[in-house]
Amino acid sequence: MLPTIAWQDDAVVMVDQRKLPTREIYVTCKTPAEVARAIKTMVIRGAPAIGVSAAFGLALSVRRSKAAGTKQLTTEFLKDCDLLAGTRPTAVNLFWAIDRMKRVFSERVLAGASVDDLRAIMLAEAQAIHDEDLESCRAIGRHGGALVPAEAGILTHCNAGALATAGYGTALGVIRGAIEQGRHVRVFADETRPVLQGARLTAWELVRDGIDTTVISDNMAGVLMRDGRINFIVVGADRIAANGDAANKIGTYSVAVLAREHGIPFYVAAPLSTVDMRTPAGSAIPIEERHAREVTHVGTTQIAPVGAKVFNPSFDVTPHRFIAGIITEKGVARAPYTESLAAMFGEPVAAAAR
Ligand code: MRU
Repeated sequence: MLPTIAWQDDAVVMVDQRKLPTREIYVTCKTPAEVARAIKTMVIRGAPAIGVSAAFGLALSVRRSKAAGTKQLTTEFLKDCDLLAGTRPTAVNLFWAIDRMKRVFSERVLAGASVDDLRAIMLAEAQAIHDEDLESCRAIGRHGGALVPAEAGILTHCNAGALATAGYGTALGVIRGAIEQGRHVRVFADETRPVLQGARLTAWELVRDGIDTTVISDNMAGVLMRDGRINFIVVGADRIAANGDAANKIGTYSVAVLAREHGIPFYVAAPLSTVDMRTPAGSAIPIEERHAREVTHVGTTQIAPVGAKVFNPSFDVTPHRFIAGIITEKGVARAPYTESLAAMFGEPVAAAAR
């Protein structure tokens, strides 16, 4: 199992994903501010892993505090919630995890918990978020693996693997699940410009697992589809709206449109913590814009002239009509998603569609 993120000696340890695949270096965060910086600078990335990091960051907030009473502890805790919430806007797992930690904190304070009690309670909750994510990924793998053809050429975009979650992965979880169910799988990994999560991270973890992996530059996917070498596509998501529109790494939309043209099923794999029932449609999902340097440079090498303007949205939204199914830990949601996703939350459709 890949060591994406772990709690160790009252600190959060994570593999520095900026350095992979050539160097495996671990970063130790001892304060919520250090965790926030790690998320913002993409030491750790991928929607579920961002949520888990924020939860551990808030456990640090409580455990490292010198507050004498719960009043001061609450002030510090809420400040750290805001700090972590300001790191990356698109991945809804971040806000989901912060809300869950906040809810537990305030319920326990109201119930009379002491500062010492809260130190144990908040760490246990963060660890539960981590462990549940891993469990969800395994369930996604079981449900999604069953959809994969016996002889599969699978395209994936970005990294929705063990590195993007507490372990096992969502899209890569489906691939791992398919292999565990006896499918013969060949994976094509889009390199995923500008930050190259596909070439650097997806290929790294698949090769480590001995899975047949071919890295392609993003503009090669269409030709492979035309030539019949891809018969299944699975990607992750950063936020799925109530109607099934899914935000994921920039370039996912282009893959979905190509898939439709070639009649290839395009699946999105994500835990329910990535589904945002309060966002009715993809047009309401905030899209992060990142630094121009990600586009003008590859690593430290400049590839565009000084003075050129840059457009660098980190994500795009794939409309639900292009999605064959959304693979979650509770099974595969199918269109109409407004109904199938609401049913997974046990919500009445009218409330979900609001
Ligand atoms: O900018 P990143 O690397 O955080 O973007 C990650 C993605 O787009 C992933 O596909 C998504 O978060 C799903 S991870 C299971």
